[in-house]
Amino acid sequence: MSEIHLKSPRGWINDPNGFIFFNGEYHLFYQHFPYAPRWGRMHWGHAVSSDLMNWKHLDIALFPTKTDDMDGCFSGSAIEKDGVMHLLYTGVRYDAPNPENTNCCLDDKFTAAQLHISSADGFSFDNFDDKTTVIPPINDTKIGDRTHTRDPKVWRGGDGNFYMVLGSTVDKKGRLLFYKSADLIHWEYVSFATAEGCGWMWECPDYFRVGGSDVLIFSPMGTQYGNQAVCTLVDFDEKTCSMKIGNKYQFLDYGLDLYAPQSTTDKDGRRIVVAWLRMPEPADNNTIGMFSIPRVCEVKDGHIFFHPHPDIQEKFTRKTTSPNGIYMVKASLSNGDELNIGGYIIRKEKGRIIADRSGVIRNNEELRNVFETPVLNGGADIEAYVDQNMIEVFINGGEYVITNTVYDLSDKVVGNVELYVMEE
Ligand code: FRU
Repeated sequence: MSEIHLKSPRGWINDPNGFIFFNGEYHLFYQHFPYAPRWGRMHWGHAVSSDLMNWKHLDIALFPTKTDDMDGCFSGSAIEKDGVMHLLYTGVRYDAPNPENTNCCLDDKFTAAQLHISSADGFSFDNFDDKTTVIPPINDTKIGDRTHTRDPKVWRGGDGNFYMVLGSTVDKKGRLLFYKSADLIHWEYVSFATAEGCGWMWECPDYFRVGGSDVLIFSPMGTQYGNQAVCTLVDFDEKTCSMKIGNKYQFLDYGLDLYAPQSTTDKDGRRIVVAWLRMPEPADNNTIGMFSIPRVCEVKDGHIFFHPHPDIQEKFTRKTTSPNGIYMVKASLSNGDELNIGGYIIRKEKGRIIADRSGVIRNNEELRNVFETPVLNGGADIEAYVDQNMIEVFINGGEYVITNTVYDLSDKVVGNVELYVMEE
């Protein structure tokens, strides 16, 4: 049976890392604590796929070995140079471990540095002899924070150099730090960018160009809705690494469970994004954490769209009337229309899509249960992908997306819908 989501193989997973199409395969790494279904001293888990749907989990790729990453290998990215896979990631060292759980630190105090490791084949990583600290901990508080500076995303610029963006904070305001390198090892700090009113620290920044537009994605901490991934159109000048960030943000996903997205280009050059889905408690197999399906990012009329990857979409060809397992729901909603997907409610009201997961959530006292999009541009064509523990609702070809973690879905779908499953 085909799958459509990467899910935790054991223990805990969070952010996608090092997403890359390399030597004919997709490699997707992830923040991983293998010993229990909770966050702890971070490793990089590793999975590969040829179709972006079925993921094969491999051995753990990165684990703490050096002083600078002795308490965790935090998020980062991959890039290919001369046929070799290079990973850049954040290493952390706790000021003091929590005596009751030494996998975590005390009082959120730790030091962060940026490290490099490479792999000729993309499968073997020498954690003992091939790690280099390429950006030491920041010690100038006017530039960034020694603790909260992390998640290097690297790309090759138009001038052939490599560029890196890091998420950071100064004076309780999130900011981006830009670095430049000719060889991925020697990095020079060039500039920073920031914006008002968007959280105190920016995690997992990602910058790319798509169809002539500059897109910035990041995951600010401490906004009105807690920690949420946002995206916005920006202006980036490569020569000076200056980035103009406006004040028009979209949520990457209006389900507010999705965090720390990371993009890469697929084998056909599309810009694709995967993200971590937060779960309030483990799945029935006692693992926790899963990723969205890869979404194609496009910009139309100043709006950023995220639609399902066509290779996944086109697999759902067989109509069915008995939904179970993984299936896709298609519908077209007018104001007042409602669907019930196994207990998960979607309705159109006053021009918006509202999703209500109150009936299919566990242990959710502190989370929201009802979500809504902004007012839509006209009708509401729905394409929802349903899997155990996750529903992804794409509205109007990705104008907005609502993704939620769910539990105990029933096999009943009510409403004016067409249901599809994958060909066997
Ligand atoms: C985002 C994040 C990153 C960090 C990683 C640690 O979820 O906090 O900023 O690198 O997770 O697991």
